[in-house]
Amino acid sequence: MTVETSASASPAAASSGGVSDGQLARATAARSTVVPPAGDPSAFPALQAEVRRLAAEHDAVILAHSYERPEIQDVADYVGDSLMLSRVAAAARQSTIVFCGVAFMAETAKILSPAKRVLLPDLAAGCSLADSITVDQLRAWKAQHPGAVVVSYVNTSAAVKAESDYCCTSGNARGVIEAIPADREILFLPDMFLGMWLQRVTGRKMHIWLGECHVHAGIRPADVAEWHRAEPDAELLIHPECGCTSQVIDAASAAGEQVQILSTEGMVSYAEKSAAPAFLVATEIGILHRLGLKAPGKRFVPVNREAVCQYMKLTTLEKLRDSLALGQFEIEVAEDIADRARLALERMIAIS
Ligand code: 13P
Ligand code: SF4
Repeated sequence: MTVETSASASPAAASSGGVSDGQLARATAARSTVVPPAGDPSAFPALQAEVRRLAAEHDAVILAHSYERPEIQDVADYVGDSLMLSRVAAAARQSTIVFCGVAFMAETAKILSPAKRVLLPDLAAGCSLADSITVDQLRAWKAQHPGAVVVSYVNTSAAVKAESDYCCTSGNARGVIEAIPADREILFLPDMFLGMWLQRVTGRKMHIWLGECHVHAGIRPADVAEWHRAEPDAELLIHPECGCTSQVIDAASAAGEQVQILSTEGMVSYAEKSAAPAFLVATEIGILHRLGLKAPGKRFVPVNREAVCQYMKLTTLEKLRDSLALGQFEIEVAEDIADRARLALERMIAIS
C-alpha cells in the first residue's frame, strides 16, 4: 500500500508563532510527496529565509491555510483552518497580516482587524464556493423568507457576510446552528453538502443554497469505497463540504462503522489523538502535509489525489516574498460593508 506522506519531523509552523531556521529545515525535509513543489526545491531554504527576514523587517505575521503548498506552510507563523486563522487575525499584534490563502480569508482578516494592513500575495486566489452566491441573489432569497436567520459559511464575499446574521466555518457550524432558537427559520448558504450534513446532525430543517466547492464536490462516494476496500482498518476523515458525505455516513452506519466528519483542523487534532495507524482523508490534499507533520508515523491516504484547489496553490514563495517586499496586494473592504459583516463574523468567532 502506498505511503502517501513521508513526514517524521516536528511542525515548523507552530501555533505559538516564530519559526527558526532549524524548524524550517526539518519541515522542508518532511515535505509531503503529494503536492508537487512550485519551482526548484533547492531554492526554497534561501527564499524562506528571505521571507522570514522581510516579515521581521515589515512587522508582518504570515498566516497560511492548511491547503497551501507545503513550502508555504513551512514558512508561516500560523497554519490552520478558517476558524483558527480568523481568530489569529483578530488578535494579531503585528501591523501587517499576509494571508496565504484565498481572497475571502484575507477580506475576513481585514474586517476583523480594520486598522491593519492585510496582504494577499496573488489577487487571483478566489473560491468557487464563495462565487456560488452573489449579494443580489442573497437579497432576493431573504425577500422570499422575511425574518429568517441568515447563516453564511465563511467562504463568502464581504458583501454577502454583510447581509448575514451569523457566519460559521466547518469547525463551528454545528455550534452556530444549535445557538439559534428552535422556532427561527434558517437560510443556510452557500454550501449544500455542509448544509445537508448540518440538518442531519442538528435535526434542524433549513433552507439550503445549492452551492458547492468544485474540489470537495468532486470527491465521490466511489473514491471512498475503493480506498476503504483497500485499507479496511484505516479511519475515515471527511470534510463536510465533500459531495460524498451523506452517502458515506449511510454506508458506514449500515456496516456499523464510524466516520469522522471534521474541519481541516479537526482532522489534525483527531489524527494526533487517535490510536489508528492509518487514515483515509477526504478533503483537499494540501492537508496531508500538516497531518504528516502533526501525527508522524501514521499513514494518511488521500481518497482522491485530484482534489487540488488551484486557488490555494497560486501562492508561491516568490509571490510571498514579493508581497512582503512590495506591500502587494493590499485588501480593502468598504467601511459600511465591513461594519455590517463584522457583527456576523464576531458571532462566528465567539462560538466554538
Ligand atoms: P476549513 O479550513 O474551515 O476546514 O475549510 C475548508 C475550505 O475549503 C477552506 O476554503
Ligand atoms: Fe474554495 Fe473549495 Fe478552494 Fe476551499 S477548496 S478555497 S472552498 S474552491
